Amino acid sequence: MQILQGKNIVLGITGGIAAYKMPELVRRLIDQGANVRVVMTDSAKAFITPLTLQAVSGNSVSDTLLDTEAERAMGHIELAKWADLLLIAPASANTIANIAHGLASDLLGTLVLATNATIAAAPAMNQQMWHAEVTQENIQKLANRNIHIWGPAQGEQACGDVGFGRLIEVPEIVEHVCSLYQEKNLANQHWVITAGPTREAIDPVRYISNHSSGKMGYAIAQAAVNAGAKVTLISGPVNLSKPASVDLINVTSAEQMHQQAMIHANGADVFVACAAVADYRVAEIATQKIKKTADNQQMQINLVKNPDIVADVAAQKNKPFTVGFAAETQDVEQYALDKLKRKNLDLIAANNVALSGQGFNSDKNALTVFSTSSQQEIILMNKSDVAKKLVTIIAEQMDEKV
Ligand code: PMT
Repeated sequence: MQILQGKNIVLGITGGIAAYKMPELVRRLIDQGANVRVVMTDSAKAFITPLTLQAVSGNSVSDTLLDTEAERAMGHIELAKWADLLLIAPASANTIANIAHGLASDLLGTLVLATNATIAAAPAMNQQMWHAEVTQENIQKLANRNIHIWGPAQGEQACGDVGFGRLIEVPEIVEHVCSLYQEKNLANQHWVITAGPTREAIDPVRYISNHSSGKMGYAIAQAAVNAGAKVTLISGPVNLSKPASVDLINVTSAEQMHQQAMIHANGADVFVACAAVADYRVAEIATQKIKKTADNQQMQINLVKNPDIVADVAAQKNKPFTVGFAAETQDVEQYALDKLKRKNLDLIAANNVALSGQGFNSDKNALTVFSTSSQQEIILMNKSDVAKKLVTIIAEQMDEKV
């Protein structure tokens, strides 16, 4: 059976150049068995015609709240009730702002308020608009209401800028939609995941950190949620939206991450340590900004060892199935296997971070996953796909252990 068989999807198209990709999205959703009805904002119609979307969806397109004919039967409420999923793509900065503030000034805004369906938005806009503080606040509001945020992707934009703001590709959107309805084989499991870097303060304005973006850990959190797990994500400072349906705990330093991990991993089923934790912190944090002096050509900072979070979780009496990462630049297998044993882990995902195009702050990754008796390769692919494969491997290895 197709995964979206019988699922009713309302596709809300807003004004953006990526609207031209929506007929293809409608087709691919129908290929998976979905029934699709399209709603367009006024600006969307400047980029693509309702007639095109009517032709590909096989349903008439709704484009106004004040349609006397449709509203005779309370069309907007009927659509809101019909939908299993309200998917907004491309979601413009304007529509995101309207939704964040609960505006019902057009049909799409009204549907968002009137529906009980799952809601997802795939943002697309200029990179500067995406990074604007107010847009990020609005996105956070949506995420806090458990609206799924898919993307945006990074790359060249229609306006010539390069950066975050591109609509994610159509197959990726379809995959996200399908993942909402995949079998939830991790139901009743609690996963705790660490992600991102830690920051170790030197003085009030400086810190020691690393290049972790959090993308890998957040992708694992999303994949585990999609597979039905309850997920607690303990995250260092990153520039990413909260994955929908994840309990997010923000921390800054390794000590804070350690404290939260020890609380939440206690009694959890799985602990995945994806964070790039600083091994050392500054022994004495200066209370005032350290000043440069004319005669000091050098300065020393004393460092002390941070607690080893994953090792401490794995040392607990009732330890969860514990998965570490090993970011290595040489002798990857040897160092990874050493960490697997020394930290008492069930699995370790080895990351060759010397190779370009993967690892820290990249959209892609490749891993070799070791247990004491097995080795599995996850070849170079998008972090969301790597995460799905890793989650599957973890689930299989847990089954074998039982
Ligand atoms: O965040 P991204 O930009 O997406 O990049 C992903 C990643 C490269 C950060 C990720 O894939 C990765 O490899 N994470 C582990 C990075 C790391 O710090 O590795 P490590 O070899 O130094 O640490 C080994 C393991 O011990 C890791 O699971 C780490 O989380 C854990 N650790 C380390 C030190 C410490 N004090 N406490 C820990 O729990």
